[in-house]
Amino acid sequence: MLWKTLVVYYSRTWMTAKVAMEIARVLDCDIEEIIDLKDRSGAMGYLIAWRDALKKELAEIKKIEKNPEDYDLLVIWTPVWAFTMASAIRTYVVENKDKFKNVAFFATQWWEWAQRKFKDLKELTWKTPVFEIQLLTKEVTNGSFKGKLEELLKEYK
Ligand SMILES: Cc1cc2nc3c(=O)[nH]c(=O)nc-3n(C[C@H](O)[C@H](O)[C@H](O)COP(=O)(O)O)c2cc1C
Repeated sequence: MLWKTLVVYYSRTWMTAKVAMEIARVLDCDIEEIIDLKDRSGAMGYLIAWRDALKKELAEIKKIEKNPEDYDLLVIWTPVWAFTMASAIRTYVVENKDKFKNVAFFATQWWEWAQRKFKDLKELTWKTPVFEIQLLTKEVTNGSFKGKLEELLKEYK
């Protein structure tokens, strides 16, 4: 691995956590979980999350531990919420984007069809990602995401 890399992720129901941990293992790099301080559990938490994401509201997040400035590449991993990034990832990006050098965007989601998550991330960071990939939740649960990731990341190892 030539680039010092940090994997940053938020996960409400552990789908994104699972793949983010796998990518950090494959790249042998640091990882930081973004913690949303709002209770997002249960049906009410789900509905509020939809509303917050639709309104592009920022979430209050726990203080981060790793300085993005110390890394050449930031792998930003978000679950898709209301066609865009999760609120906690939006906050992380807004608060830290001036410290980003290179970025890669990853998303976990239910549906196949095109959504605006990466467009929103590009607009927010003002950066073209080194790579971007979306994984379906079914690819995470059946394990087929591993092959897809290893193939993509071969050249970055
Ligand atoms: C509030 C909310 C909104 C969502 N909106 C979308 C969506 O627009 N498109 C989609 O494909 N999946 C959507 N999903 C599904 C999640 O992206 C998917 O379940 C993801 O894998 C969850 O990741 P996590 O377990 O790391 O939180 C949504 C989930 C939540 C909670």
